[in-house]
Amino acid sequence: MVSIPGPSVIPDRVLSAMHRPMPNIYEGELIDVSFSVQEDLKKIARTERPVFISVSNGHGAWEMAISNTLSRGDKVLVLESGTFAVGWGEMAAVSGVKAEVLPGADPEAVSVEALEERLKADIGHEISAIMVVQVDTATSVRNDIPAIRAAMDAANHPALLMVDCIASLGCEPYEHDEWGVDITVAATQKGLMVPPGLGFVFASEKALHAHASADLGLGTLIGNLELTRSALPDLLRNPAYPTPLGDAGSA
Ligand SMILES: Cc1ncc(COP(=O)(O)O)c(C=O)c1O
Repeated sequence: MVSIPGPSVIPDRVLSAMHRPMPNIYEGELIDVSFSVQEDLKKIARTERPVFISVSNGHGAWEMAISNTLSRGDKVLVLESGTFAVGWGEMAAVSGVKAEVLPGADPEAVSVEALEERLKADIGHEISAIMVVQVDTATSVRNDIPAIRAAMDAANHPALLMVDCIASLGCEPYEHDEWGVDITVAATQKGLMVPPGLGFVFASEKALHAHASADLGLGTLIGNLELTRSALPDLLRNPAYPTPLGDAGSA
């Protein structure tokens, strides 16, 4: 069964752009746009950090975030505010990570007080990452990401802050850098109002540092942040090189 996501309307201008003949894949416009789109995406997420693009839906981008930053036996704290963070946490659990859910009252935003209390109790810093959605599509609940960051800071907790913006990027104000987010996950088919098919991961320096020792890695070119990055010189030398797109700048 094919389950195509995304209730958002695709503007006629976008639909018309898709009716053009396929451009040359070896030179010119398609190569240029492969790089300019990265800069444009960074502007939307309000970051100077790299963006990694996968040929996937949001679930694929979820997996890219998990498999590139976590290790077997790590623990994630999933902040429930509806459906999607819990689903993301289940994906982490089947990948070999322990997932603890901080229960939320449906349909309410995450309690930052409960989060701070839980993090203060984690004296040994067993929790490697916090997983939360900015907007939970099913419940329309919007979480206050700066307040979640502030609760983590108040608890002096070093976990990565991982935020799912699949429904909200392009719709809600968002500040990957200013809010101190480590991983932002997004996809094409909602706020960006284009068809499904590409997933995005924006990564902080701390997230890339975690990537260096993370052992859940897919071990394949697609979805591996470091391989994606190192493939770029080949892409520049030979545009026909079969690689997903990575950031053109330095981390
Ligand atoms: C907040 C949120 N996260 C994750 C997903 C999963 O994305 P996809 O259906 O593209 O895999 C969705 C899809 O509706 C979503 O709304």
